[in-house]
Amino acid sequence: MRFTVAIDGPAAAGKGTISRAVADRFGFAHLDTGALYRAVGVKGGDPVAAARGLTPEDLARDDLRTLEAGQAASRVAVIPEVRQALLDFQRAFARREGGAVLDGRDIGTVICPEAEVKLFVTASPEVRAHRRWLEVGGDEARVLAEVRERDARDMNRADAPLKPAADAVVLDTSEMTIDEAVAAAVRHIETLR
Ligand code: C5P
Repeated sequence: MRFTVAIDGPAAAGKGTISRAVADRFGFAHLDTGALYRAVGVKGGDPVAAARGLTPEDLARDDLRTLEAGQAASRVAVIPEVRQALLDFQRAFARREGGAVLDGRDIGTVICPEAEVKLFVTASPEVRAHRRWLEVGGDEARVLAEVRERDARDMNRADAPLKPAADAVVLDTSEMTIDEAVAAAVRHIETLR
């Protein structure tokens, strides 16, 4: 059985939590595609070479979740050759036997336009910054500035910009608890399975 769930949206909208819960609920494999760009960003050196030579060890680094890694990821993510180098791996993952859920920015638009389910998970910048701040701490205003900067870079790049696919269902989680957001995503997938 091949079944692809594409979950896109801006930073800290709840994509990761929803994707893990959906994978768990339906027994699908999960790929956090942001981790690929984060690993390329923190590896340093030539980003195209880093993307082409990405290893499982690069993806297991414990510094991938920092604000700095997020910024580094969005800077290398504007480079078309970096995106191209990561494409085949993501496409193969999406069509693996047993079903897959991928979360990122361009899964429904570029990686898997034929995905059976497309969700665009979003929330206001303030709500997203607050959630990220609860994870990373520090100065909340700085976290909000970082969220806005990354949104702008991701939405305005020429190659695979962040936007909902024409046939994506938009899930705004601003006023939802995480349990409510997960339940809404699961209900939607059940109607399409
Ligand atoms: O989702 P996460 O915050 O880990 O993504 C980090 C950065 O990687 C994003 O801000 C974006 O620039 C880039 N990215 C992307 N395409 C994806 C996933 C992530 O461009 N499919």
